[in-house]
Amino acid sequence: MRTAIVPGLEDLDPLAFTHRAHRMGGALGVDLCLQRDDLLPVPFAGNKWIKLAGIVESAEGGAVYVTNGGIHSNHCKATALWAAHHGHRCHLVLHGERGGDRELSLDILRRAGATFDIVPPTEIAETIAAAVDRAHADGREAVVIPGGGHSPEGILAYSEYARPVLREVVPDVVVHASGTGGTQAGILHATDQLSLTKTRVIGISVARPAERGRRVVVDALRGVGAVGAGVDFRDEHMGMGYGIPTPEAVESVRWAAQYGLMLDTTYTGKAFAGLQEMIRTGEIERGSTVLFWHTGGGYLAALGGPTAAHEGEPRGAIA
Ligand SMILES: Cc1ncc(COP(=O)(O)O)c(C=O)c1O
Repeated sequence: MRTAIVPGLEDLDPLAFTHRAHRMGGALGVDLCLQRDDLLPVPFAGNKWIKLAGIVESAEGGAVYVTNGGIHSNHCKATALWAAHHGHRCHLVLHGERGGDRELSLDILRRAGATFDIVPPTEIAETIAAAVDRAHADGREAVVIPGGGHSPEGILAYSEYARPVLREVVPDVVVHASGTGGTQAGILHATDQLSLTKTRVIGISVARPAERGRRVVVDALRGVGAVGAGVDFRDEHMGMGYGIPTPEAVESVRWAAQYGLMLDTTYTGKAFAGLQEMIRTGEIERGSTVLFWHTGGGYLAALGGPTAAHEGEPRGAIA
């Protein structure tokens, strides 16, 4: 049964991706629920799929979606797949070095019919403008999607998606990987709408220092008319930075796999390491209802198992 109407995703039941992980929760000493964005109807897209639904809802058939991100970006994969799914075109402005497993990401984009430029970060804006001009010259609508899908429409779509899950689980704590902050703003918007005043939402930073990351989430919430007080955005599990595995994340990836849950060392592994640490220190009390929001990144999980991660090669690129 459908329980929410996410614009552009009318057939999607968010609760179909929610389940209790009894065995894993037992090992951690909490009542553990998982939200599985990694299992959403398309591969590789994760949380980005939901945000896109809000952003590109209005585009006419045959439009050109233009967005940017690193070569490994989940957001870019999601946009390419979305465009293919809905009969649009997609042009991506990518940054980062080619070679190695990044060629696999490029292959996925190509197979989905997307075209791309790879440019230095300083040339992203002008390359996007050129792609828009080309689309117009071709008589097509151009839809420019912000990097990472970070926009009020994306946040509101995520809030729609999160609401039935939060209403059903009523967690004491939600823990998830936080990057551009759109996902966190969406979940917080949903808790606000449901008046879940006792639910803590803890974003584990994968890229940004705490102060900046927190400010962006606060601003994003204000942008959708919600109160931005009490945003919990933490950077102590980020390690050396975006895409660089920490030993704790590597260990969490290994541990969770024993329970059938695939994590990656760029996003979900760092978030899970944060969760385990909070349970160990007692910050999250034993017996609490914990919702671990698995935001996706299955592609990176498949690429970067614990062994590869130990080599310290950055995995992924910031969207
Ligand atoms: C798998 C995964 N988890 C979490 C995030 C962070 O989401 P947000 O940018 O909305 O904070 C991303 C963003 O790229 C991602 O790909």
